[in-house]
Amino acid sequence: MASALDVVALSGSLRRDSYNTAALHAAQELAPEGMTIEIAAIDELPLYNADIQAVGFPSEVLALGAEIAAADAVLIASPEYNYSIPGVLKNAIDWVSRLPDQPFAGKPIGLIGASMGMQGAARAQYHLRQSFVFLDALPMNRPEVFIAQAQLKFDKDGKLTDEPARDAIRQHLESLAAWTRRLQGTVPQ
Ligand code: FNR
Repeated sequence: MASALDVVALSGSLRRDSYNTAALHAAQELAPEGMTIEIAAIDELPLYNADIQAVGFPSEVLALGAEIAAADAVLIASPEYNYSIPGVLKNAIDWVSRLPDQPFAGKPIGLIGASMGMQGAARAQYHLRQSFVFLDALPMNRPEVFIAQAQLKFDKDGKLTDEPARDAIRQHLESLAAWTRRLQGTVPQ
């Protein structure tokens, strides 16, 4: 049997009925055998301020960094806000990026996203990829998951009902498992 994979997930939306958080719940349901996905909280992080950092990293930042450092991979589900990364998610990434032994370095990353527009948050994903160059994280290239017109794809309870979107997430997670094992050197290149 394949080794267990612990994935920490971040949602780019704090909204209670967020489609992106709902997509992470779908991912928890659709994960391949052996993969567990825990959603980390980013709503208690203060806004990044180097003066706060100089006094000491807030406990929420240390906890998030530790979760990311301990995980085999990170899964991010984010909307795009004004064609880019929502501030709450960028804030979390910026805090974690200042930690010693920067936790994103070398970390396999899966990127999925849902938006009410036609591009399915693609532009936020490409901006995330850009930030991850500097952080030396290793986002998986494909398959990409863009859940466009999200308002048509989830039911009123937040369940992802659109079969093509469910398939896309399933395939993304299978590929993320393979990508993670490849980077960990537990399967031949
Ligand atoms: C949006 N929305 C949006 N949608 C999109 O497709 N492209 C965009 O650039 C934006 N920009 C944007 C900016 C801001 C400030 C808000 C609040 C919203 C709409 C967005 O797709 C919609 O609100 C989603 O429901 C947000 O995702 P969650 O909260 O459901 O996960």
